[in-house]
Amino acid sequence: MFKKSIVLFTLLLLVLSGNAFAAGQQDSKAEDKGSLVFYAGLQEDHAAMIAEEFEAETGIKTEFVRMSSGEILARLKAEKDNMTASVWYGGPVDGIVAANAEGIIEPYISPEAVNIKEGFADPNGIWTGIYIGYLGFVGNKTMLEERGLEMPQSWADFLKPEYNQEIVVAHPGSSGTAYTMLATLVQMMGEDEAMEYFKKFSPQVRQFTKSGTAPGRMAGLGECTVGITFLHDAIKYKKEGYTDIVISAPAEGTGYEIGGVALLKNSPDQDNGKIFIDWVLTKEVQEMGKTVGSFQFLTNKNAMPPEEAMPIKDTKLIEYNFQWAGENKKRLVQRFSVETSTTAPTK
Ligand code: G6P
Repeated sequence: MFKKSIVLFTLLLLVLSGNAFAAGQQDSKAEDKGSLVFYAGLQEDHAAMIAEEFEAETGIKTEFVRMSSGEILARLKAEKDNMTASVWYGGPVDGIVAANAEGIIEPYISPEAVNIKEGFADPNGIWTGIYIGYLGFVGNKTMLEERGLEMPQSWADFLKPEYNQEIVVAHPGSSGTAYTMLATLVQMMGEDEAMEYFKKFSPQVRQFTKSGTAPGRMAGLGECTVGITFLHDAIKYKKEGYTDIVISAPAEGTGYEIGGVALLKNSPDQDNGKIFIDWVLTKEVQEMGKTVGSFQFLTNKNAMPPEEAMPIKDTKLIEYNFQWAGENKKRLVQRFSVETSTTAPTK
């Protein structure tokens, strides 16, 4: 009787542990949602918040690397046959158009693209817009006063002798912001005239930085008098406590970016990449940007633009051609570098 009980008890244990094992297997299966790496062209804190929220919501293990637009393009070209990232997230879409010419982009039209405002997604699914940023000027109020300078109000102002060595701007070879400036002036003036402008402009510049956000940060820290940057970045730094920051927008008109997202060809986690793209295009996720000080205008037609962007909403914009800008990026950056005898910094 006693022996029988032991056998029955052992059997019961075996059955129970078998069930537990099967359940455990199911659990770990349920947990294994795979992974995703994205290359981020927007602000580091924005990318970090998105990676964390996406992982929490989907269970997909998510990592990112923040780079300037030109760096992302160079890295993707080098990794073309052995891709690490599956998505390019953020930064002006000119860079994505240029990457497409190198065979790096996998077209993808997200079901969420129906909610993106007209004109803010590529019809062939090469890129989909996530935000819109206006290019403008940033300055440090105290430094301007000390030097008896006015805040520049036009592109023409930057050529005046009094701004000599007072200007900081990123280099279009590394920065999407600076490429927006280059492509803007070429579209406004014509290519040869714009190159003449940059030949005169370049000796006025104290430093060409790698990243497009550096001039705003430097103006905030009192490390440069004036700079050229996306206005929402200057607004971010001002709100973060750099109260000496002043901004203005060029009287002649200015260019703008559509920040985009794109799937990468031959990338390791394409299905997760699509889930990510669908998710970042939603109203809710676009509106999360402002919680970390990203004050761009948004592309989802149901999303509310951040209050902080309202003072610049009437900025005079040119009709910027993103397809043309992307297709001519390589050539224009080369010409800019030759004409101004400058190269993009690596640090
Ligand atoms: C910042 C801005 C983005 C912009 C990006 C470009 O992160 O907030 O709107 O797309 O700069 O960066 P880059 O370094 O390539 O100029």
